[in-house]
This record gives sequence, C-alpha cells and structure tokens, in this order.
Amino acid sequence: MAQRLSDDFLRLVREKNDIESTIAPYVSLRRSGRNLVGLCPFHGEKTPSFTVYTDQQHYYCYGCGAGGDVITFTKNIQNLSFYDAVKVLAERAGLRMPENYADDGMDKLRRRCLAANREAARFFYECLKSEKGREGLQYLRSRGLDASIISHFGLGFAPNEWDSLKKHLNEKGFRNDELEQFNLVRKSQRGTYYDAFRNRVMFPIINLQGDVIAFGGRVMDDSKPKYLNSSDTVAFRKRQGLFALNFAKNSSEKTLILCEGYMDVISLHRFGFTNAVAGLGTALTEEQANLISRYAEEVYICYDADEAGQKAARRAIESLGKVNVKIKVIRLSGGKDPDEILNKNGVEYMRRLLSGAMNDTEFRLTGAKKGLDLSVNNDKVVYTNAAAEILASIPNPVQRDVYLSAVAEDAGVSRDALSAQVERIRRKKKTKEDHARFDRIVKETVGTTRTPIYPEGVSGGRKNAEERLLSCLLRNPDFCRQVSGEIGPQDFASPLNAKIYSVILEKSETSSPADVHTFSQMLADEEIGYVSYLDASDRVLANTVAECLDCIAKIKSDDSGAQEEDPGKWDNEEFLKQIERIRNEKK
Ligand code: CTP
Ligand code: MN
Repeated sequence: MAQRLSDDFLRLVREKNDIESTIAPYVSLRRSGRNLVGLCPFHGEKTPSFTVYTDQQHYYCYGCGAGGDVITFTKNIQNLSFYDAVKVLAERAGLRMPENYADDGMDKLRRRCLAANREAARFFYECLKSEKGREGLQYLRSRGLDASIISHFGLGFAPNEWDSLKKHLNEKGFRNDELEQFNLVRKSQRGTYYDAFRNRVMFPIINLQGDVIAFGGRVMDDSKPKYLNSSDTVAFRKRQGLFALNFAKNSSEKTLILCEGYMDVISLHRFGFTNAVAGLGTALTEEQANLISRYAEEVYICYDADEAGQKAARRAIESLGKVNVKIKVIRLSGGKDPDEILNKNGVEYMRRLLSGAMNDTEFRLTGAKKGLDLSVNNDKVVYTNAAAEILASIPNPVQRDVYLSAVAEDAGVSRDALSAQVERIRRKKKTKEDHARFDRIVKETVGTTRTPIYPEGVSGGRKNAEERLLSCLLRNPDFCRQVSGEIGPQDFASPLNAKIYSVILEKSETSSPADVHTFSQMLADEEIGYVSYLDASDRVLANTVAECLDCIAKIKSDDSGAQEEDPGKWDNEEFLKQIERIRNEKK
C-alpha cells in the first residue's frame, strides 16, 4: 500500500528549507519589525502587502490572501503539484524522497499529460523531417527558418491524416479518453477519436521546467482559423503562459520584448533578440504581467502596427501598469509585425525601433491625440481632458512637470490652467486611494471580509469570536485541554472553522501540535492562506485561556442576525479606538 508523505518527512523538508531563502529569489524582501515584507509575487501591487513571518516560517499577503509555508510557496510560485513542490525542496536540501508515496490523482494525471505532450512533440518533430512533413518544412523554410532554429524551438508538423498521432500515442500506451482530456484528440459524434491537429505546422509551448504544456498549430495557407491552440488542461493554464519564456529567462538582459505572435518571437530569437516572448493569443492577463515582472525590470511592448495591435498594446499597458516593471512601447514601421520587419529590413533597423521606443506616457498621449485636430477648439478640449487624466497618473513629480509643459505647448493651452486641472484629478484620486487603504487596514486588523466561508447572515461579532478562538488555539495548542469540553466543531458557524478546530484539537493530543504546516496537505490554497492569516492575525488580545472561554461564550450565545458588534459597521473613531486597544493589550 502506498502512503501519504509522512508528517515527519514533511517537517524535515520544512526545517531544511528556510522560508526567507526560499522566497528571496522571487521577492525582494526588506525587514519590517520582526517580519519581512515585499511586493507580492502572486498579484500585482506597488506597495508591499506580502509578509514573511520568519519565526513561524510562513507567509501571508494582506492584499490577495495568499499564504502558507515553504511548500505552498514553492507549489504556487512554480505552478507545481504538492508532491512536486516537496520533491523540489527535498532535492534542494539533499533529502531523498521516500519511496512508495501515495501520488494524489491530480499529480498522476498531470504527469501523464506532460508525458503525452512530450511524446506528441517528438512525433510532430519527426514528421516534419520525414516525407510526410515535406510541405510543412517547405513552409517554415519559406519563412526563413533553418534546421537549427527549427530544432531549437522544437517545431514540428501534424500530418494531413485523421489519426496518425492518435495511433502513435496508442502504441505508446495512451488511451483515447486520456488523449481527449489532454486536447490531443477529439471525439466525433459517432464516438470515434481523431487528431485535434491536422495538416498544420506545430509550435510547442514549453514551461519554465522544460515540459511541453501545450501546442499552437498554424495552417500553411490562408484558411481559417490561422492558429489552433490547445485549450486549458490539467497541465496548462493559458492565462499564465508566455511563449518562449523558457528561453528568454536565460537571456542576460534585464528586459523582455513582448510581442503578439509565435512567429514574431521566433524571428526575434533568430536575429539575436533572445529576450522576446509572446502571450498565447489572448489579451495580456494580470498573471502574465506578473510573470513578466518577475523576470524583467523593463518590458518593450512590440505589438503589431495595425489598429488591433495598438488596442492590445493599450490593454497590455494596463495589466503591466499594475506590476513593478518599466514599460516601453515600440511604434513599428517598415512592416506589420516584428517578423516581417526583421525579414525585410534586418537587425539594425529593428534595433533602431527598439531604441526609439516611447515610454508609456508618450504612448498614451500620442494615442489620445490621434484623429484630433488641435486647431479646432472642441478637439483641443477633448485632448486636454484626456491628457490631464494621463498626466495625473504619473507618480514622479519631475516627470509629470516635464510632460505638463509639453502638453500645454502642444495643445496651445495655458500651463497654469492645465496644471490646476491635473492637481484636481490627483486630489480626487488620492481621496479614493485613501479610502481603499483604510478598507485594507480594516481588513488586516479586524479581518471582516476575506474568505467567504460563513453562511449568510452570520454576524461580524460571531465571525470575530470564531477566528479569534482559532488564532489563540493555533498559538497555544496546550489550551485545548481546558477548552475542548466547552465547544465542539458543530458549534462553529463556518464549516471551514469547524474543520480547522477539529484538526487543532486532534493534533493537540499528539507530540506535534497543529500549525500552518499541518494544513498544507489537507486544505485548498485559499484555505491555507486563511490559516496563515489566523496564525498571523493581530486580533488575539490577551492570549489566555480566559480569552478562549470568552470567545466560546460569544459563539454560543450568538444567534446570528444580532448585528451590534459587526466590525464592518464601526465608524472611524471607534475603529481607531479598537486598534489602540489591541495594540496596548499586546504590549
Ligand atoms: N492567434 C491565435 N489564433 C488565431 C490568430 C492568432 O491564437 N486565429 C494568436 C497566435 O498566438 C498568433 C498571434 O495571435 O501568433 C498573433 O496573430 P497574427 O498576428 O495574426 O499572427 P502571426 O504571429 O503574425 O502569424 P503569421 O506571421 O504566421 O501570420
Ligand atoms: Mn506575422
């Protein structure tokens, strides 16, 4: 019988992998009191809410609720399964994985999918080199690709047949229902299976670990759809993928070139721009922006020159604006996309385009002016209004001032008037941000609106008491003996709280009491984040058995619906008093 990874082994893995040194390569951390803080790698932000608790060896992000221990971190940052994350950390610490572990179903399936993809990529590559692939090879040649770049990117060819891949993979031991789930074959209405990709040149998409996670396939003529892409599978989330990041991450540059198409990336690499990547046929997502900011300090957006490309560039700026990366935008000329430009005009031309890139302010101002005639009064007003919004969003005052002068002159309006308008917008924005920050502090300190784990109508006071009790018990498992007679799991309004309580209780009777780590194998990620939050929470007041009993009394007397203690309803003054009280009591 296979077994779960033992608690002892997991504890060893955690002990040998210090949380700070595990997180440091991904997040630049600075000390803040007893803890470390930095910009959260799991969501876009510009002020740090990501906190590392070195004493407890876990982390929690007050912005997005991500939290956990070294294993959770490794799992999420590298997009691995629990088992694989443990394996990575074990290897790093020089520990041997125990044999005979119980692989959870997802892990197995994911590995199976990667194995099928790898075999498929090999098959496509072999086809391209064989007689069947002649047309494909000719096509790629016609686009300027030689054998070395083809093999570098592992390009291939899906033959013009209904089931050649299917047959090949069947021979290798893959079942049709699996292959359907991996998006490699499809099922017809008659119930027969056929290849998903046929008569197309194939572009494998490879993740940072070097696994083939998906494919894009292009027709060789003008038929539609031009590209066919794998949809999401157990091993692939389109929203998170970037084509060629596996190569670009090794580039010595601290910049990335972001373009739209597979062919653009391949040509850029071929001409020596090995830091080029592309999204996967969707608008740039926040996840992708985040990924970019992890590998680059600066990103050159190099989208097609047409209207669609420019629109996509504006959206990309929006996503990238939320993360910590400098943005440059290239205005392409001499061809419709980087691939065409390189083939027609060569490397030097492309290099000049890159060095002439605009920053995002210039790009947005140019966009705002487009189609307007500044000698017409109405257009002048339209432009000035749009420009004032853009200027107001520039955080650096010197830069703001420079562009303010430029716009005033350009539009022929008075500098003072424009400046006053920009300041008005900034004040309005600041008030809005203050409100948001205030809300965040409320959440951090009192914790009212995180994980929606309560049935409707449960009062804030009840939630607070349940969470405070769990926080207190997590920190003081020895209290369990004295309080367990007073409350049972069924008394909690939230099923998740009941579950956490049961685990704490059960573990308190063993030699290794429950902590955040205990939960990492049992709960979903956002639930682990919640446990981290409970553990880190500043809400515990006295940290005594008496406090636990007080919470229990509150829980048991509550018939929910009673609203008087809902922290969400406090006004500012009362809120500040509450914070003060918590602070004093902690001293
Ligand atoms: N794309 C897609 N599906 C389509 C068209 C495009 O997924 N039907 C995605 C592909 O990732 C493609 C990118 O959008 O690479 C950009 O599209 P486009 O500019 O039309 O293609 P190119 O990459 O320029 O391809 P080519 O030069 O081969 O025409
Ligand atoms: Mn193209």
